Amino acid sequence: MKCRLMLPIDSFIAMFMVKETSYTRLCAKKDILTVNGQFPGPTLHVRKGDTIYVKVHNNGRYNITIHWHGVKQPRNPWSDGPAYITQCPIQPGHSFNYKIIFSMEVGTLWWHAHSDWSRATVHGAIIVHPKRHTKYPFPTPHEEVPIIFGEWWKEDIMRVLREFAESGGVPKISDAYTINGQPGDFYPCSSKDTFKLNVTYGKRYLLHMINAAMNENLFISIANHSLTVVGADGSYTKPLTTNYVLISPGQTLDCLLEAKHASTRGRYYMAARAYSSATNIAFDNTTTTAILQYADHPVTTTSPLVPSLPCYNDTTAAFDFVGRLRSLDPVLFSLNTFDTQIYSTVSLNTLPCQNRSCAGPNGTRLAASMNNISFVSPQSDILEAYYDHIKGVFGTRFPRVPPLFYNFTGSNLPLILRTPKRATEVRVIEYGSIVEVVFQGTALVVGLDHPMHLHGFNFYILGWGFGNFDRYKDPLKYNLVDPPYRNTVLVPINGWAAIRFKAVNPGVWFLHCHLERHITWGMETVFIVKDGNRTEERMLPRPLNMPRC
Ligand code: C2O
Ligand code: CU
Repeated sequence: MKCRLMLPIDSFIAMFMVKETSYTRLCAKKDILTVNGQFPGPTLHVRKGDTIYVKVHNNGRYNITIHWHGVKQPRNPWSDGPAYITQCPIQPGHSFNYKIIFSMEVGTLWWHAHSDWSRATVHGAIIVHPKRHTKYPFPTPHEEVPIIFGEWWKEDIMRVLREFAESGGVPKISDAYTINGQPGDFYPCSSKDTFKLNVTYGKRYLLHMINAAMNENLFISIANHSLTVVGADGSYTKPLTTNYVLISPGQTLDCLLEAKHASTRGRYYMAARAYSSATNIAFDNTTTTAILQYADHPVTTTSPLVPSLPCYNDTTAAFDFVGRLRSLDPVLFSLNTFDTQIYSTVSLNTLPCQNRSCAGPNGTRLAASMNNISFVSPQSDILEAYYDHIKGVFGTRFPRVPPLFYNFTGSNLPLILRTPKRATEVRVIEYGSIVEVVFQGTALVVGLDHPMHLHGFNFYILGWGFGNFDRYKDPLKYNLVDPPYRNTVLVPINGWAAIRFKAVNPGVWFLHCHLERHITWGMETVFIVKDGNRTEERMLPRPLNMPRC
């Protein structure tokens, strides 16, 4: 593949030039923000435990930051990336040198812009190979291929953001999904450049799948071929063979593909489309495709076979798949107990709007919240304020429990419950404590599935279910043996999910829904993990030349 940067075992300096580049998709030419002119951006190849440096130069018109999604960055929140959380954005004409510290991660991660909606086009794969002289815990693949799912708007993405932020309504839905930057045969003017995966009969391929779409979970399947999932979110899983997968925005899957089902046809579609379970919410219901093509087979028919995918609203299919994932490696700390519990609602909300003139329900402005606080992004970054003891940037009162208990997932909830508070509140966590977070979806405005992502950690997903979390009964059903170890958990529609992690990474870590519109609306907070007593338990000192606000 042309977009490949090979990195040696130890440190390396890669250059990311952020700039506008002209791309033609869906019959129209438009300028998009890219890294090094590539869409998707360059793939970073590293080995487990490497530390690398990437210098990002902003040659575009907007402020930008880059986040290394799923890289835990031990003691190093300085290079984590979310704008106004751990850094001020890189202004046009300026640069920042990111230090990216890998530790236990292996498999597929990714990088993306973490400011405004730039990540729509500013993203790429990170492939973490096993250490030298070690192997994957599964049969060695013949070839490894990044498969990045994206979402494309005909309109300028900054304009899409501006329009809905101003109107108070929902964002314009996208015009296409893409596989490695290409929409595929089911869209106008897209057949010629469809992404093709050339395979040889009898060989094994490792697909590094990333959902980089902005707003939708995706079902993915390949006609006549099953996939064997062997990794998720940078951690190995027990092999799971399946006909389709579900990937939420932010999540990754490593899938083995055996190229051995060639019949008389030599070409098969890989297809992806939305899993969107909410009622009355418009979404992009188009299907993106790539073509799996056997090199040594004559093409006998012109149209490849189309796979069958679960229906858009097939929650059972979505969670059947999610619920079958198990981690391969033994758990890293005892899951029998926890030190702190944070029980948080994740809700859609509405804010009053003058003269009821906004585009949300009944003239309101749409919002979103955790524990009824709709997060307000500060003007300068939280990490600096924490490090330098600057007052007035953030508060430390993110509630440990919902401020009000009601039937979270009930129907016809009183309208008054829909209005959140607006504030910049974080939760401070003691170093070394085992933290349980229970996310509780609500039916306010509309219930839907939320992919919740935590920076700085992977966490064990102990359990999930539909309806309200029952603190007595539900923990009895937790998986404490081999729960999946991920950085993004899909909280089921009108349901809950429980995770645990050990707070051994001091720093300032963003926690948010990975649906981009929900971040804009405020479905986020920050965990500040305090320093421990020993030197190696403390945050690294601030690097020189952090960007200024
Ligand atoms: Cu990929 Cu803050 O996220
Ligand atoms: Cu959400």
